[in-house]
Amino acid sequence: MEKATLQELLESRLKDIFSIEIAEASPQELFLALANVVKSCYANDWSQTRKNLLVEQQKQAYYFSIEFLPGKLLKSNLLNLGLLDTAEELFEELSFSLDEVAEVEKDMALGNGGLGRLASCFMDSLASLGLPGNGNGIRYNYGLFKQKFVDGHQVELPDDWLRAGNVWEVRKESKAVDIQYGGEVYLIEDENGRLRPERHGGYVWRAVPYDTGMVGYQNDMINTLRLWSVEVPAAEEANYATIESRRSLEDLTAVLYPDDSNERGKKTRLMQEYFFVSAGIQSIVRYYLKLNHPLTMMSEKIAIHINDTHPALCVSELMRLLLDDHDLPWEQAWAITVKVMSYTNHTIMAEALEKWPIDLFKEVIPRNYQIIEEIDRRYLEEYAEVHEAALLNRTRIIINGQVHMAHLAIIGSHSVNGVAKLHSDLLKSVVLHDFYLIFPERFNNKTNGIAQRRWMQLANQPLSKVLDTTIGKSWRHNPQDLQLLKNYQEDPTVLQRLADAKLTNKQALAEYIQQTTGIEVDPTAIFDVQIKRLHAYKRQLLNVMHILKLYFDLKDEPQAPIHPRVFIFGAKAAPSYHYAKAIIKVINEVANLINHDPTINDKLKVVFLENYNVTLAERIIPAADVSEQISLASKEASGTSNMKLMLNGAVTIATLDGANIEIRDAIGDENIAIFGLTEEEVYAYYAQQNYSAYAFYEEDPVLQRVVNAFIDGTIPNIEREGREVFDSLLKYNDEYFLLKDFKSYCDAQYRVDLAYKDQQRWQAISLMNIANAGKFSADYTVQNYADDIWQIEPLYAHVKEPNSASL
Ligand code: G1P
Repeated sequence: MEKATLQELLESRLKDIFSIEIAEASPQELFLALANVVKSCYANDWSQTRKNLLVEQQKQAYYFSIEFLPGKLLKSNLLNLGLLDTAEELFEELSFSLDEVAEVEKDMALGNGGLGRLASCFMDSLASLGLPGNGNGIRYNYGLFKQKFVDGHQVELPDDWLRAGNVWEVRKESKAVDIQYGGEVYLIEDENGRLRPERHGGYVWRAVPYDTGMVGYQNDMINTLRLWSVEVPAAEEANYATIESRRSLEDLTAVLYPDDSNERGKKTRLMQEYFFVSAGIQSIVRYYLKLNHPLTMMSEKIAIHINDTHPALCVSELMRLLLDDHDLPWEQAWAITVKVMSYTNHTIMAEALEKWPIDLFKEVIPRNYQIIEEIDRRYLEEYAEVHEAALLNRTRIIINGQVHMAHLAIIGSHSVNGVAKLHSDLLKSVVLHDFYLIFPERFNNKTNGIAQRRWMQLANQPLSKVLDTTIGKSWRHNPQDLQLLKNYQEDPTVLQRLADAKLTNKQALAEYIQQTTGIEVDPTAIFDVQIKRLHAYKRQLLNVMHILKLYFDLKDEPQAPIHPRVFIFGAKAAPSYHYAKAIIKVINEVANLINHDPTINDKLKVVFLENYNVTLAERIIPAADVSEQISLASKEASGTSNMKLMLNGAVTIATLDGANIEIRDAIGDENIAIFGLTEEEVYAYYAQQNYSAYAFYEEDPVLQRVVNAFIDGTIPNIEREGREVFDSLLKYNDEYFLLKDFKSYCDAQYRVDLAYKDQQRWQAISLMNIANAGKFSADYTVQNYADDIWQIEPLYAHVKEPNSASL
């Protein structure tokens, strides 16, 4: 589209909506008008994609996820429509900044961390590869909370992201479905001797979908992200006459992860899970029936993906529809269900493998519970002759009065995958070993990937330009072409250009830090970044311990030859995760101490940026020199910030955990700083039960000083939190082996400091990181899901490039 046309469209939209001229428009008004123009640019393609799908009747995948984290969509949609440069030029000509306008958009904060962002990266890749794949989730009114720090403590505020409306979504009243909760279900024999459910009591809530177009990269393909919102069904209006009763209903889609430390929160979570699962499955079956094929062929047209355990009810809900609404015999319904479903596990942390008390199941979703009981009974019966009772008892779905969601997902799916090689191996050998014995053919690995369009082309324009001028633009379509950069490893001009781009990004971040926190940071310092959910296994605390060590080094020797460093954190703690919140307070107080100590002479700065989200990540990642990936080996399933930071030229300091191992394999030991226990060593400690945190503490005076600092008054205002940290390390024997890994972590940090001082070498390492990051594009990951798990193919009309995504 020509610039002049875009301008005309923008002008006419401003007139239509606000009755104003461009010159009078505020950034808010410009945003809304431009977003509407963008929407109209893909409206036709969106309906055409749907039509093509109906005509071609190609198999489609549906990705069920309790989290999605798309981030802002304006620039991403402009990029994918091929309009970003034009829009930028136009705005510049009109003396506006497109960035300022884009900033107006609220992040759709419908997720917490890697899980939700991965789902959104996959949405981008599916559409960009021309693959028919849709998202299915919940339209939370407040999403995850908005994080504020008050006296260093995390405070959770509602994130009212929908207040000004959401320009991208389309409410589809006509596609609403009813969701049944509660009541009693009796099984009554019909005239053919078949047991039929008869429901007494209970209630019905309405699920209304809001669809958002997922725009493919310059291929006219528009998939759909369908998010469900709860409403009162018309027939039930009278029962919800009071504000109170309405409020309890609206609670259902108010927030992500309601606090489940109490019964009410638990119930809301289970109801949420059933809500988006039932709504999604009902709408899929309705669509499938339109194709006029027998239900027995469903797996030829439909693939349903269970992303983590939250949507595991997909299994019992599809069974319910096939059995109760469509009269299929159990065996047929089960065969269809298993062929249609697939499941990804995202963590080995037991806390995330959900279990629900059966009483809650019976109360909330009685018919699903009956079906799950029957799946469980048949499972035991079917495998009784092949496997020992003990093994079956460990893997069955209902154990000790609880429904095990992961077991339901595994038994009901044809594919179970982990998200990095090590993680998938651990699933087979440890975490899900029992299942592996029973279903070895179901297990496979799909290493995560990231949307390089967002994390490079959008987030890092300075670097993107250097890449364009150095290796041409093919990397924008084929991320593996970033490899071409390897030819310039020793080219001082290119290395300098890369350094300049990094400096530009660091200056921008320094400005943001100054504006939002008041802290002055020097853009020539090393920007050392750890951005991820706050969790003990991710070991933000180990990072803090190293910072304290450097602090003491400088106190002892103010002239110590340490290159100045800025440690940057971004992390939210789950509201009921007490220990994680204590760590946030500790980091903030360490920051206070160091940032205000004049003897440190600005050699160290610690910055904890509030409210970490996709937009903030887009600011931080391009400016990072060092990427902290320091989880205890075996605990981080994959990680994806490791990939984003690598792509942006940061040098990784890492344990051999998750996808760090594959990153190391891709770039070689000389381009990454590896430290710490290996996964085998961690498991050896578990086996021998001989880890003694105290022994490490006792023998290392440096470590002693650091650990004591949490309780000896060195860090002011952390009496309670410091004690908790101290106790977790010594009294409770340091669950995540921080004391053991401390020394090798400090050594690795020292190597990083040395390497940075040799700028030529540093830039070459950074270049190798960028050059080898193409492999971690979500395009390849999604292509592998499409080929191996979903068996979906691109829609012919939307394959613009030769399909070069397979490795
Ligand atoms: C979780 C895992 C992480 C993985 C991600 C996506 O993310 O812990 O290793 O990369 O899912 O598969 P988290 O919620 O911890 O950020």
